[in-house]
Amino acid sequence: MRVLVTGGAGFIGANFVQYVLAQRPDWEILNLDALTYAGNLENLAALDAEPRYRFVHGDVCDRALLDQLLPGVDAVVHFAAESHVDRSILDATAFIRTNVQGTQTLLDAARQAQTPRFLFVSTDEVYGALGAQGRFTESSPLAPNSPYAASKAAADMLVRAAFHTHRQPVLTTRASNNYGAYQFPEKFIPLVITHALAGEPIPVYGEGKNVRNWIHAQDHCAGILAALERGMPGEVYNLGGDDELDNLSLVRRLLQLTGASESLIRFVPDRPGHDFRYSLDSTRARRELGWRPHVAFDDGLGRTVSWYRQHPDWVAHIRDGSFRQYYQSQYATRLAQARTAQ
Ligand code: NAD
Ligand code: DAU
Repeated sequence: MRVLVTGGAGFIGANFVQYVLAQRPDWEILNLDALTYAGNLENLAALDAEPRYRFVHGDVCDRALLDQLLPGVDAVVHFAAESHVDRSILDATAFIRTNVQGTQTLLDAARQAQTPRFLFVSTDEVYGALGAQGRFTESSPLAPNSPYAASKAAADMLVRAAFHTHRQPVLTTRASNNYGAYQFPEKFIPLVITHALAGEPIPVYGEGKNVRNWIHAQDHCAGILAALERGMPGEVYNLGGDDELDNLSLVRRLLQLTGASESLIRFVPDRPGHDFRYSLDSTRARRELGWRPHVAFDDGLGRTVSWYRQHPDWVAHIRDGSFRQYYQSQYATRLAQARTAQ
């Protein structure tokens, strides 16, 4: 089996590449990644001597490159995306290019190459937001609220259209919020951990009451592999974790795990259009793919904190780069208006 993974130098992609090479000893992986600010070859340094792995530096919008790479590929797993909601609020341009145009370009190239399987890694954010009750199933209407979510929903619909129009053998997974090793510290869990370890203020949007449904990246990767091997073309599979938590409770748990003080918490002005709650019903994936999450939340959080503690160089390289500038533009004004925890 020869698999083209896009975005394999990012957080979930890097976890997936390593997971698949370990789980499927006869599979080969070609990793196509543009190495944006979120792509990091340090995530894959362990594979430098792995003969079943090859990295290609390139863009999913580059049709000529895709036409060279796809012949002989048995499956595409498409992670490559602009993935951060807050950045999409600052400027959505790259989201439309990579997430929408890039997905269609990859679909077209895979159709021409007659690639037998194409899995699109989508997100629960395409469904929009929930109140305190209820869960999203695969037949819930799509109602994305942020530019990021709208760009993923557009791509998700283009994948659906490729099946209905061309009978292209595509599948879609929609996962809830991931956490684990290699996550870029713009996202909430690694942001809280790295700030707690450094004794820096922790920005919590609004009152910290928004709820997320967390899944460990390893469990997400297992779900993607299960869908790739056993999913039905044209179908969508929700991959949600078992754990739902409001943001403030999550910060408190992470502060306990890192040994840092609650005095670091700063309540800052909210994200515009902040979705209140996500919750996925993954019954279909459990029933039809025989998949379920295995990582207990406390254990997964503890392992994630340990990973960031043990990789100070990885963190320092990111925090020395363009991230510093992004952090300023996203948080300087907010932190100036912050309230501390009582
Ligand atoms: P990430 O931002 O950490 O990584 C994205 C990767 O894509 C990077 O390596 C980047 O260099 C690459 N990339 C960006 N533009 C590219 C382009 N034009 N061509 C080639 N490569 C490009 O993202 P992540 O958190 O690992 O998310 C991966 C996928 O999973 C995304 O599609 C995201 O929408 C989806 N997803 C993420 C979560 C989550 O909680 N992080 C949950 C559900 C779904
Ligand atoms: O649900 C799946 C989605 O989860 C993925 O599709 C996205 O790629 C991924 O980024 C993630 O989106 P969120 O917006 O939910 O994740 P984020 O880590 O940015 O925020 C998680 C929660 O924490 C959210 O309620 C906003 C809040 N938050 C976030 C940041 C960065 C804060 O309170 N303060 C912060 O500084």
